[in-house]
Amino acid sequence: MKKNVLLCVTGGIAVFKAAALTSKLVQNGFNVKVAMTKSATEFVTPLTFQALSRDRVYTNTFEEADPTKISHIDVADWADIVMVAPATANIIGKVANGIADDMVSTVLLKTTAPVFIAPAMNVHMYEHPAVQKNMETLRSYGYSFVEPNEGYLACGYEGKGRMAEPEDLLLKIQHFFYKQTNAVWQGKKIIVTAGPTRENIDPVRFFTNRSSGKMGYAIAEEAATRGADVTLISGPTNLQPPNQVEFVSVESANDMYEAVMENFGDADIVIKAAAVADYRPKQTYDQKMKKREGEWTIEMERTADILKTMGEKRTHQTLVGFAAESENIEMYAKGKLEKKRVDMICANSITEPGSGFQGDTNELVLYKKTGDVIHIPMTQKVEAAKSILDATMNIHMERQQ
Ligand code: CTP
Repeated sequence: MKKNVLLCVTGGIAVFKAAALTSKLVQNGFNVKVAMTKSATEFVTPLTFQALSRDRVYTNTFEEADPTKISHIDVADWADIVMVAPATANIIGKVANGIADDMVSTVLLKTTAPVFIAPAMNVHMYEHPAVQKNMETLRSYGYSFVEPNEGYLACGYEGKGRMAEPEDLLLKIQHFFYKQTNAVWQGKKIIVTAGPTRENIDPVRFFTNRSSGKMGYAIAEEAATRGADVTLISGPTNLQPPNQVEFVSVESANDMYEAVMENFGDADIVIKAAAVADYRPKQTYDQKMKKREGEWTIEMERTADILKTMGEKRTHQTLVGFAAESENIEMYAKGKLEKKRVDMICANSITEPGSGFQGDTNELVLYKKTGDVIHIPMTQKVEAAKSILDATMNIHMERQQ
């Protein structure tokens, strides 16, 4: 069922990001209503939010469009979650001290839904002991904060105070609901592939790549934690298979192809995080090749594209692929979406520090077939796995509607 998000917008330059968040929430299947303070309307007009949310915008406690309802009570009850973005020092101070003198502060005191607050202000205001104390008070009342980022602030300062990006706020909201509804994962059959493949030349030599398997293992572990029935098909890695997953160890692209196809029929979701070799030596020698004078040329042939084959054969399955690129990330990722007929490509830049193979962190952009794009900022692979699974389940549920 669609969830109801009440977005409370207060006055700061980051109001424009709240407009982007409204659009993203609607695109991701949420019902959105917006309440604005008077100062917020100085930055962006209510009409913008009305058009993006396709609903009236709440700005004035005394403007009662429907005489059968009291709008600030009604909208506060309607919300499954409230996001205050941007949140000024003023609104934080008001709510912490029980002041309700406009639409947003009244709704915030009335609602019993969980409230997330995304502060945006000058670094010195943010660090002011009064603001910090008010935030502490709100935390003690059960409010959650989405920390601002460090960087260039509209006032010309550099520091902590930039509101979190709309994509991050969307993910926070999605995480919240998926945590509540982990039940959707119960018993879902999921195949995750991970690691590199190894293409033998002779008994001692092989071709492989730098994939560590960490991203795929993190996805498999998280999916199992959420209650899914996970089969992890992995090339050679140094990692310990996670508990609660069915582990299938493979070596070559061909082994992986066979293992995936064996499990594909009754899978609900396939996530192909493996870095599968695209080529293998045409000839594999049974005995170790001895060195000789002159050059040694190894002829290579294409391996089967496992993901593409699944894209052609699929019926009910949701398919997610990965793309590790060193340039033109968006163009190549979107190309793979089309060519492999999958629902989402998780793209990362292998040249970006902290992203891609080997490390514990990753920065990814998820390109959905629907055209939606989700940016996962640099984070631990374990955290990125959660976002990838949230986005995947979102697609899976939409496909079933
Ligand atoms: N993949 C696959 N089988 C292959 C090669 C790739 O299933 N033989 C899957 C990977 O697991 C990944 C996605 O396809 O999910 C993208 O892999 P990648 O190697 O980046 O893309 P290619 O289509 O091989 O394109 P290129 O090598 O030109 O970038």
